Amino acid sequence: MALKTAVITVSDRCSRGEKEDLSGPAVARLSAEKGLDVIYASVVPDEKEEIKKELIKCSDALHADIVLTTGGTGFSKRDVTPEATMDVIEREAPFIPEAMLFYSLKITPNAMLSRMKAGIRGDTVIINLPGSPKAATENLGAVIDTFPHAVKMLHGEGH
Ligand code: MTE
Repeated sequence: MALKTAVITVSDRCSRGEKEDLSGPAVARLSAEKGLDVIYASVVPDEKEEIKKELIKCSDALHADIVLTTGGTGFSKRDVTPEATMDVIEREAPFIPEAMLFYSLKITPNAMLSRMKAGIRGDTVIINLPGSPKAATENLGAVIDTFPHAVKMLHGEGH
């Protein structure tokens, strides 16, 4: 069964319609190419409570296996996606961002400027990605092949 995947774009400007969201569609495209079933996509502003509400909806109501966020992981004062994520996850999965960083540092030193987080809420794995389509797909590409095994383990199905 294809993993149910939700994609949340976090961007003030995209949420106001001032900028086209290219990152969410790029993340959804790569996910679909890799065999994931993209069931939901949305755009929210860089507001912690709104991000949290969307993450909770995707995990608890939509029962997504994987929730991917794109944007809001950097150093700008409006970048609060990692903080919203930490508020809703029950267990952190620190090595997913570390694996993405390890891969991304070979491409650009700016990779260290993302503060992305990953973790588990119920039966859902939530993973932050940076905001540009390039950064989001490079980071996702580094870890996406592990998703089926991650979800299998989460469901207690073992190796
Ligand atoms: N990771 C990869 N693989 N490629 C990139 O181009 N850009 C970085 C970083 N991670 C980048 C990357 C940059 S420039 C920033 S500022 C941070 O992600 C945070 O991005 P965000 O604030 O849009 O989430």
